[in-house]
Amino acid sequence: MRLFKNPFVSDPIDSPFRVHKKDAQNLIVEIGCGVGLHPIQYAQQSPDDYIIAIEKTREKYLKFAGRVEHHPDIKNIYPVHANAQHWVPQNILPNEVDKYFMLYPNPYPKEKHKNKRFMHMPFMAYIIETMKINATLELATNEKFYYQEAREVLADVWGLKLKSDSIIDSDTKARTHFEKKYLERGEVCYNLVFQKSSK
Ligand SMILES: C[S@@+](CC[C@H](N)C(=O)[O-])C[C@H]1O[C@@H](n2cnc3c(N)ncnc32)[C@H](O)[C@@H]1O
Repeated sequence: MRLFKNPFVSDPIDSPFRVHKKDAQNLIVEIGCGVGLHPIQYAQQSPDDYIIAIEKTREKYLKFAGRVEHHPDIKNIYPVHANAQHWVPQNILPNEVDKYFMLYPNPYPKEKHKNKRFMHMPFMAYIIETMKINATLELATNEKFYYQEAREVLADVWGLKLKSDSIIDSDTKARTHFEKKYLERGEVCYNLVFQKSSK
């Protein structure tokens, strides 16, 4: 696998979110948040955290940003319209993220598209670098193959420790639009939480 070289990390990083985020708030980053149901609810329920939610598809991002505008009371959310592979290395420093969410990432089931799955990207090395010790990465998927592969690759290749492996209860309130759709169809939604340990 190619090593991911971050070309920006030696430069000062003045992303505007730093003006808004309080030092005491935990830094949470959600990659591929779609229309933003999860980060908005998360921000409302977690005032001690500051969530950056990144979505690359313009249409979805605009819906998300519109929703955020309707909640001027929420101060701990920072919507980003970008490809996370570019934005994260340009704006996030090593060892500063407390938690990542990847909820229902595109699974790219074809073998020839395997390298498009986040877990196989060189970008993953930088994600791990930005995580503090004990920080977590929460990943949900409705695809069994993706769940099995993530369990293996995130532990064996990227050295994360599996902290929790569960199935989303179909009676619980869905966290995202995709989760809602999958649960309504009666599909199994797998949820994995990994942790970065000191070794
Ligand atoms: C299957 S959807 C899930 C959306 C949302 N998390 C949900 O569960 O409803 C995957 C989303 O990830 C976004 N996405 C894929 N790759 C991305 C990237 N590199 N950076 C930011 N967003 C990305 C897509 O545009 C899409 O909206």
